[in-house]
Amino acid sequence: MGSNEIRDRFLSYFQSKQHELVSSAPIVIKNDPTLMFTNAGMNQFKDIFLGNAPVKYSRVANTQKCLRVSGKHNDLEEVGLDTYHHTMFEMLGNWSFGNYFKKEAIDWAYEFLVKEMNIDPKRLYATVFEGSPEEGIELDQEAFSYWKVHLPEDRILKGSKKDNFWEMGDTGPCGPCSEIHIDLRGEKEIAGQPGKELVNKGHHLVIEIWNLVFIQYNRKSNGRLESLPDKHVDTGMGFERLCMVVQNKQSNYDTDVFQPVIKKISELSRKEYGQSEKTDVAMRVISDHLRAVSFSIADGQIPSNNKAGYVIRRILRRAIRYGYTYLEQTEPFICKLVPELIQGMGKAFPELAAQQRLIEKVIEEEENSFLKTLETGIRLLEQAIQACKSHQKTEIDGKAAFLLYDTYGFPLDLTELMLREKGMTLNHEEFEQEMDIQKSRSRNAAKVDTGDWIVLIEHTNPEFVGYDLDEVETRIARYRKVAAKGKEYYQLVLEKTPFYAESGGQIGDTGFLENGSEQIQVFNTMKENDLNVHLASSLPKDPGRMFVASVDREKRKLTANNHSATHLLHEALRALLGGHVEQKGSLVHHDYLRFDFSHFSKMREEEIASVEAMVNSKIRENIHRDEQRQVPLTEARKQGAISLFGEKYGDEVRTIRFGSSIELCGGIHVKATGNIGLFKITSESAIAAGIRRIEAITGPAAEQYVNEHLHALKEIRHLLKDTAEPVKSVKNLLEEKNKLEKLIESHKKEQAKSQKEWLANQVEKGNGINLIIQEVETDSVDALKDLAFQLKKEIPDLFLVLGAKTQDKAYLCAAVSENLIAAKGLKANEVIQILSAHIQGGGGGQEFLATAGGKHPAGLERALSAARDLINAS
Ligand code: SER
Repeated sequence: MGSNEIRDRFLSYFQSKQHELVSSAPIVIKNDPTLMFTNAGMNQFKDIFLGNAPVKYSRVANTQKCLRVSGKHNDLEEVGLDTYHHTMFEMLGNWSFGNYFKKEAIDWAYEFLVKEMNIDPKRLYATVFEGSPEEGIELDQEAFSYWKVHLPEDRILKGSKKDNFWEMGDTGPCGPCSEIHIDLRGEKEIAGQPGKELVNKGHHLVIEIWNLVFIQYNRKSNGRLESLPDKHVDTGMGFERLCMVVQNKQSNYDTDVFQPVIKKISELSRKEYGQSEKTDVAMRVISDHLRAVSFSIADGQIPSNNKAGYVIRRILRRAIRYGYTYLEQTEPFICKLVPELIQGMGKAFPELAAQQRLIEKVIEEEENSFLKTLETGIRLLEQAIQACKSHQKTEIDGKAAFLLYDTYGFPLDLTELMLREKGMTLNHEEFEQEMDIQKSRSRNAAKVDTGDWIVLIEHTNPEFVGYDLDEVETRIARYRKVAAKGKEYYQLVLEKTPFYAESGGQIGDTGFLENGSEQIQVFNTMKENDLNVHLASSLPKDPGRMFVASVDREKRKLTANNHSATHLLHEALRALLGGHVEQKGSLVHHDYLRFDFSHFSKMREEEIASVEAMVNSKIRENIHRDEQRQVPLTEARKQGAISLFGEKYGDEVRTIRFGSSIELCGGIHVKATGNIGLFKITSESAIAAGIRRIEAITGPAAEQYVNEHLHALKEIRHLLKDTAEPVKSVKNLLEEKNKLEKLIESHKKEQAKSQKEWLANQVEKGNGINLIIQEVETDSVDALKDLAFQLKKEIPDLFLVLGAKTQDKAYLCAAVSENLIAAKGLKANEVIQILSAHIQGGGGGQEFLATAGGKHPAGLERALSAARDLINAS
């Protein structure tokens, strides 16, 4: 059975059990401060488990794109070395939200595997939670008894908290779980050692395939468990592992999920898979990481130097390095694997196919730049090795290796490999020390202490009223204290709020909570999943009272201008540049807007001007906002609403239409485009391969920008005697300036020539020395140096000191013929040291030529006579 069919069969099985099929949430999470990437199917339902969001469907199933490369669940270093871990994987899941519980979850899991997938039940093991006295939880007898209906008792194993209590992160929904494992070994091996001894022991053929979690608790920040009001089921099955089992393979990488990509890698590298462990690992790493990186890019996460972008960059770099080291790939090649990936997965995940060109471009650019880094790193490491060898050392110090790793992104294992090849070692202890210092530095910088919620009003469903109101009477439903970077503040959830929480690129509202006696400042509003959290600098004395919550209207108006202008800009870009333009990021601020989009070349001046003109013409049309708050997603799409890859949309969405521009959007917008007033693009630049950035301003800021430019122009005109053609006049001025500069240059040359001739005639002879000590007219030390050089070339046995002064500076230059240096011990640099004291300055140079500058021109004469004294004394 092919992988696409296996996926379909899972979904239709649970559909037949009245499960609603929902789509995968994006792989990159935007509104959850505790999680960067989706690491489990249940992430998108976290608010339902916690009771923060209403249950829409009580039974749900899907396949979820997951990435386990950071935080609590991190498999990165394992990937490729074994045959069943992945960075990005699909998790097949079914959920019950307060509906069915352990019995159905177990019965259906068994039925699906054995009846639908034809898996031999004799190879299956189930584990159940043995209980934990310190948490006050007993053995999961219930799960045990349901498994007993399907499996003999000796294949139901009891597991510890580590394996059988599932938690998403340090806090949040959690509960005991029951895992299904499978023994894929041959009959002979099974006879030799029963599979139950190998469950959860890291054997590559005795592996977990499905985890049935019974969510009953919420882990609080103080570590305690709190029972949830409803009980839920959260199951997750590794799709790639299921494919391996069903397709009778012994490695996930041998299934049709990975084989086409591996074949392509073989073809490009001219190495066969299965011939050597090292190249096999490399091929597995690359075929796995290609998926993680491509899916993340498709969901809007471009590799970068911070946060999620950095994680993606590191994954891609790991793949590049394996290709470089073991497959001898010194040119970009991972980008060439994208078509194979899309061929296999593009149907189930259309976001890949839609952005193929962007994915290829971004990967290629990253490959190019990291390959250069590798070259630089290799060069630096070779230098360090040479330096060690010249001191008869065979160990490189850890600091040098850390510098390579940290500053140049050069991987540690490559450093070690190269050292081994040269018979050298690395001081690991020192390296680890450096690493620890850096880690604790960033840990301290990022440390956030979040207290538990203090609930003032139970079971609230906070309501956002900000689309219609900017002020409302409300109460605080819950609050908590947060300490971060040495500062303390409070997070408040309001029963009703007009405050827009930062999302979809638009910044969060600021404003106040007021009652008769107090005013609390809200300095930002952020989203935590679906909750609007208000950040307040202090807590009211009596948090239980009524307050008027009011948004800073002025800022919000400006922000709305910029948001609506962003939609108009988006439409204009697509109209002018083409349908390949996809929004890749946006910031809607009250002062300006920033819009990132896919496009493969720099925009020309005329294109920028056209886009600006198109937006301004829409503004002048004063198109009224047509807002629909609850349109079915399918209907909105039918109407042509633009949605973004990597955004999470519900079944019902809000659409914002200004004439022909229609977008799915939750932001704040103007009533009619005329409010925007004016739109000006202030910059257009590249932020990554294939991604451009436009920055623009609107309304009063645009007006001010235009006025400032006009004012500057007016001044220029004025300076040019009110010319009617300032550009022509400036051009003329520049031409004239050029001519004059050339003229000055040639005059200077002539002057220098006659100065030199004059100086050559001033030679005083005596004591075997040709002496010149003179003041000359010039304003630069370089001119003195030139003169000294030429005279030194022409006049033998020369001792020369030249001085020059301007209003506030003095310069000196000394030159001595080489024979005098040796014979008389006269050294220009020593002479200049002595003389420069008179001009209150300093200088230096070489024995034959030295210069000095000082800030005391009146002392120049004394300096020159001191030079004469030196000669007389020599
Ligand atoms: N949340 C559980 C897991 O990720 C089951 O879906 O394993």
